[in-house]
Amino acid sequence: MPASNPTGIHPSAESQLKHQVPADVVLDDVRSVVGRDQRQRSLLVYVHVPFCSSKCTFCTWVTGIPTAQLRSSGDIRWRYAEALKKQIEYYAPRVSELGYVPKVVYWGGGTPSALNAGQIELIGTALKDNFDLSAVSEYSVESSPETLTAENIAAFQYAGMNRLSVGIQSFDESELRRAGRAHSATQADGSVRRAQQLGCVNRNVDIITGFPRQTDEMLKDTLARTIALRPEHVTSYSYHAVNETAMFRQIERGHLPAHNTDQRARAQDLAYEMLTANGYDEYMPMYYSLGPHHRFNAELYYFDWEGDHLGFGSGANSVLATHKLTNGRGNLEQYISSPNTCDILEKPGISTALGESFRLTSITGRRLSYQRFSHRFGFDFSELLKAPRMKAFRMVLDRAESPFILTTSEAYVSPPAGGWHGGELLRLARRMRTVQAAAQRNQAGTT
Ligand SMILES: C[S@@+](CC[C@H](N)C(=O)[O-])C[C@H]1O[C@@H](n2cnc3c(N)ncnc32)[C@H](O)[C@@H]1O
Ligand code: SF4
Repeated sequence: MPASNPTGIHPSAESQLKHQVPADVVLDDVRSVVGRDQRQRSLLVYVHVPFCSSKCTFCTWVTGIPTAQLRSSGDIRWRYAEALKKQIEYYAPRVSELGYVPKVVYWGGGTPSALNAGQIELIGTALKDNFDLSAVSEYSVESSPETLTAENIAAFQYAGMNRLSVGIQSFDESELRRAGRAHSATQADGSVRRAQQLGCVNRNVDIITGFPRQTDEMLKDTLARTIALRPEHVTSYSYHAVNETAMFRQIERGHLPAHNTDQRARAQDLAYEMLTANGYDEYMPMYYSLGPHHRFNAELYYFDWEGDHLGFGSGANSVLATHKLTNGRGNLEQYISSPNTCDILEKPGISTALGESFRLTSITGRRLSYQRFSHRFGFDFSELLKAPRMKAFRMVLDRAESPFILTTSEAYVSPPAGGWHGGELLRLARRMRTVQAAAQRNQAGTT
């Protein structure tokens, strides 16, 4: 295991939180770390767009945003785009001077395609004018079908987009209505076809398996219609009920029947069978591509700590030289009035490192490199191994029959018997929950 500690920060420095920090203070902090070495640093540039046509009943991403604000149109979208421009103009030259080079650009949300062509152009041009984007290999944009027009697709292409993600979720009308989507199945189908005609040749389609009341026939039909569109990438998320969403409340009140883990895992098995039989490769649980060159680099970049990321917009997070910066979720007016202030500046500690390491190894089945770990958090992985929660995690994995393996350069969770597939991941998570519950019962019995 490497003994490097590039920042000199000890993990016990955790929870050094600073609130409402002006940009120059943030950058001074970052400079104090990266200023010591001259190497180039890869950067993922993220642009957050907190607007949508509707607040979907299942959606995890916008729970903190009031519906009126999410759906607001007109003036506030322009003011938001202007604030993004200001934030980009401030940060881009300064981080570039510190050696940061954008490799991936990602617009997410919310729904970036909810912006009109003029707003997209304003933000896209700010990125182009203030960053050197010549080393960007993937420029990805999230969208939903009812918002995609020839004009906004052209504006994204002008900005540099080379990957378009369309959230379809389902091709079943009753399921779309329950989900609160603002489009029909026909519109969804048409939007993906039209995008291709307009030159989008690297498309992703998001679908959701295991929605309440979803039958095998409904899912098979959604998968068949997705496959017929031949998107280069399919993400088949497994529905998880999230507190504060309308669908969660309906399940809680008994108005909708939730699927159990077995049913959700079988729905993922069905997606796996149909997608792989039609040429798609599941390169990470629930992520399918037509060949390795269509894998989703932005997601791999996040999970694998391939570099730092700089998020623009209200609710966007950044990681710069191990520091985590957060911009207040949902507070749009506050962001618009001072886009360069970050709401929380956090130095890395055991708790953040644990969370990200669990996610990397047990949710994506990927290997954790000790070297990348120390660059990401500023302390050695050996420190993490001493943490009681890490010991508990390893015990749970051992008993769930997927032990945590340590080699000289990396750590990983050994694959479940059926391999790292969406369904197996859900089954492993259930085994882990069972072990944890038994351990808690034992502990309660002995105290
Ligand atoms: C940030 S959303 C953006 C997509 C775009 N706004 C749209 O709705 O089409 C990214 C994706 O997360 C997935 N997602 C959101 N909430 C989820 C949940 N509770 N369970 C599973 N997947 C979810 C959806 O598939 C969605 O397309
Ligand atoms: S799924 Fe997309 S459109 Fe629906 S609320 Fe979430 S981000 Fe908005």
